Formats: sequence, structure tokens, C-alpha cells
Amino acid sequence: MSRILITSALPYINGIKHLGNLVGSQLPSDAYARFMRARGHEVMFICATDEHGTPAELAAAKAGVPVAEFCEGMWQVQKDIADGFRLSFDYFGRSSSTRNRDLTQHLAGKLAENGLIEEVSEKQVYSNADGRYLPDRYIEGTCPNCGFENARGDQCENCTKQLDPTDLINPRSAISGSTDLEVRETKHLYLRQSAMRDDLDKWIDSQEGWPILTTSIAKKWLHDGDGLRDRGITRDLDWGVPVQYEGAPWSGMEGKVFYVWFDAPIEYIAATAEWADANGLDDAAWESWWRTDKGADDVHYVQFMGKDNVPFHTLSFPATLMGSGEDWKLVDFIKSYNWLTYEGGKFSTSQGRGIFMNQALEIMPSDYWRWWLLSNAPESSDSDFTWESFQGGVNKDLADVLGNFVSRVTKFCRSKFGEMVPEGGEYGAAEAAVTAEIAKRLKAYETHMEAIEIRKATVELRAIWVAGNEYLQAAAPWSVYKTDPDAAAAMVRFALNLIRLYAVLSSPFIPDAAGKILAAMNVTEAGWPDDLEAALSALPAGHTFEVPEVLFAKIADERREELEAQFAGKD
Ligand code: MF3
Ligand code: ZN
Repeated sequence: MSRILITSALPYINGIKHLGNLVGSQLPSDAYARFMRARGHEVMFICATDEHGTPAELAAAKAGVPVAEFCEGMWQVQKDIADGFRLSFDYFGRSSSTRNRDLTQHLAGKLAENGLIEEVSEKQVYSNADGRYLPDRYIEGTCPNCGFENARGDQCENCTKQLDPTDLINPRSAISGSTDLEVRETKHLYLRQSAMRDDLDKWIDSQEGWPILTTSIAKKWLHDGDGLRDRGITRDLDWGVPVQYEGAPWSGMEGKVFYVWFDAPIEYIAATAEWADANGLDDAAWESWWRTDKGADDVHYVQFMGKDNVPFHTLSFPATLMGSGEDWKLVDFIKSYNWLTYEGGKFSTSQGRGIFMNQALEIMPSDYWRWWLLSNAPESSDSDFTWESFQGGVNKDLADVLGNFVSRVTKFCRSKFGEMVPEGGEYGAAEAAVTAEIAKRLKAYETHMEAIEIRKATVELRAIWVAGNEYLQAAAPWSVYKTDPDAAAAMVRFALNLIRLYAVLSSPFIPDAAGKILAAMNVTEAGWPDDLEAALSALPAGHTFEVPEVLFAKIADERREELEAQFAGKD
């Protein structure tokens, strides 16, 4: 048994996220967490809202409420949606918590103690039209690296390069579009990342088996010369973790807050402290996950995120933790995702193109989304959401393969033997053959899940469902029953046990359906099938069950067309 710490990139607070955000982090991390718990490991699965920074301020202003209130409301909205998708976080925290404030200030203080913080008089962009300093991401312009015209001042979305606003060519205010910008001078704290280049390099080199997507991005920015230059970690904003706190090793920093990307990843740790607080536990409880000097040395820590988040997790955040000189747990494996596109194009919030998480839950049950998204996760390349593909995934995989199997077997049993596992002959060669086939597939499924190749795991899971269908089709208990009811009873007994097995194996992906199946099969305790043969005899003759309601309703063509039109967005 291992202890596995899992974090999902923190969704930004400014609005409801679309399906691309869901599949790029929260959903695969949830499947992984559920799988690891099912295997008997001790799991700590953490997420939170990322609440600081200008987008939050602007969204609050637009909504006409104070930013703290806005964040509180939106945290609840995001929490409810996460519950709707059955994301099984052990804790869903908030980066605006006092835990995160204290920890962020503490780590900044430690970095200063170790000579890694520098006070720099910085040139900063002030917008005359907007009457304020413009934070990095509210300055747009042309990327000096790739020429992309809508690069933001903090990062180019096109080539992932981390930028400073003054790098941009033809800069303009993203708030007003004004080019009436001037550069003013003000004091900020810089994190001397460059002093940690060798340590980071060594650390990344010592990682084995990281996805190429992760290491290539990390290495690129580590070695391109300025990916790891010293960066400002403070901003002129009201909303955030105050830089000038009691006992701070600097002065004159009133009215400044830490940069949102400095405090956000620290919230992974702080949220675990929030978890301890919420459960009446002491500091030792969360420290045992995060402090290698306090029990976390045996923790395996996995992070999930979209690829745009990789530089911050491979360079900046480790720099913060290493630079503190304290014994913080560093990540062991970073799983990053490519993009999900929508009907061949981008999801667009402004154009209403694509599907947002709340809308998705209003249209279809969460299992449908979970299955399609995870079986099409953008793991080795981008994937494209189309309603046709979604309809296919639901109708073919869920309804025709899994749902149909469950319904045929339970209904046939009810009609011939009643709602009870029938007594009868022993399992024979056909059952042994399909057991062997499933054993092989199961091994592959487990291997892929352990390696966090989620999409490949779904291929094996589906094949396991298909194996049951093929068995049933070939065994044909409905014909055999006419001449040999005992033999038919053994087949039905075996198939009912397959149903139970399918529920257990499917639970990381479609937890609601799995729960319904287990409830209908009258199963309260169902462990992972470490011994497959035993698992396929777990339901003995005489065990009662009920035929479950329809598990998956098919999506008709007319409905699909309706949805296609509804979400196409304005041109
Ligand atoms: N809010 C960021 C985003 O949406 C992700 C933050 S991840 C963490 O891209 F490191 F801050 F936690
Ligand atoms: Zn670029």
C-alpha cells in the first residue's frame, strides 16, 4: 500500500470552465484517484479555486460585487459543478484562505533568508485610459518569439513562452484596447530563479519516465537562456496575499500583493492544511503529506495540468519549494494534457462556442461526459469534441455494450430463474476462456492506469465489456435453456458475476452507473478483483438482485442535431 498525493491544477475563479479545462486536469486526476483508492492505496486528492489576480478583480467589477464576495459565490458554483461531475476531491480549497496567505508569506520570507529574493525597481506599464497599472496578462501584443499577435504579457499561448509585458511588440491594454500606455517605475520583489538553474536542471534530469510533453516544455525553458530569468513575484493590486506583513524582511511594499502564480501552487499545500482544519486534525496530519522531514518521504506525488501550466510547475513552483531550504515534498510525476477542440475549432467563451461545465450537466448525466472525455482525453495529441463522436461513445460503448449486457442478463435471469443468482452446473471451457481474456485485458488496464495513460486504459475497459457480450452471444443461454436449464443457469451465474466485476472496474470512469449496478446487484462491499477467478464467483447461487433501470439512454439523431445547433456559437 502506498500513499499517493494527487493535485489537479486549480481552476481560475473568474468564471465557469469549459469541457477542455475539465478533461485537461480535474477529470483524469479524478479517475486516477478513484482507481488508486480502489486498489487500496491511501490517497489525498486536492484541488481548489485559484482566486487572486486581476481577472478575478475584473470579473467581480463586471458582476458589480466586491471581489471577496464574488470569489465566495463562484467558489460555491465551481464546487457544485465539481460535485456534479463526481470529482472526488478530499478537499476543494480556496487560494484566498488564511492558510495560503500564511504559507505564501512564510515561503517568501524563507526565500529572502536564503538570499533568493531581490528588491528591484521595476518599470511597469501604466494605462492612462484605464487609470491603473496593467498587470501582465492585461497587456496584449505581438509575441517576440513566434510573432503571435494576441500574446499576453505573462505568456504567449501560442508558443508557451513565459513573457514580461515589456517584451511585447505593439503593446495595448486588454481592458480598453488603448495604446496610450506609459512605463512607470516602482519597487518589486524578484525571485532569483536563475540562481537555482543547476538545482532545477539536476532535479528534472533525475526524474524517470515523465511524459515527453512535460519534460520537453521544462527543458526548453530551462535551457533557452531566459526561461529561467529572475521574475517579479509581486504586483500592484489590492486583491491577493499582502506582501507587507508583520515581520516581513522588507519595507515599503504596502499596497502590493504576491503575483497570483506565486501563491496559487502554494495553495496545493495550503488546501491540504485546510483539509486538516476542516476535519479537526492537527498540523501533523497535513504535514505528513508535504514535509519529507515529517512523514512525507514515502509519499508519491502526482500533478495533473494542461500543458500551458507546465513551466510554472516544473520551474517556478519547485524553485519556491527548493529555495525555501525546508523539506517540502516535490512532485514525482507531472501529467500534462494537450488541448480539446470543439468541432474542429477552439472553444470560445466570448463567442459562446463549445460547452461549459454547468451546461454539460444540464444536458446529459455526468457519466456520459466522463466516459467520452476520458476515452478521448488529449493525451498524445489534441482531441476534437464533436457531437457525433459523443453520441457514438454514449450509444455504442455505454448503451450497446455495457448497458445492454447488464439489461439482457438480468432480464433473462428474471424471466427464467427469478431475481436471484441461479443454481446449476459448473463453469466450463467457455467461461475459462473469457476469464483468461479478461485477465489479460485487466492487467493492461491496470498498467495503463498506473502509468496514467487514461485513454489507453479506457480501450482495455471497453474490451473487457465487449468480451462479456461476445461470451453471451456465443453461449446463448436463451437457446441452451430449452434443452439444458442447468447449463444455462451456470452461464447466467457467470454473466451476473461479470456484471458485478464490470461495475467495480468501471467505477473510476462512470461512478454513478457503477454505483447503480452494484446497488441493483445487491452488493455492498466490492473490492478490486486481485483474484479474478474468485471475483467471478463472488455472487453465489441464491444471491438476490433487481433488474436495474435503464442505465444509459441513447442519444437520438434529432437530439444530436439540436445540440449541434445550440452550441455552434455566433459566427
Ligand atoms: N489557474 C491556473 C489556470 O487556470 C492554474 C493554476 S495551477 C496552480 O491555468 F499551480 F496554481 F495551482
Ligand atoms: Zn509566442
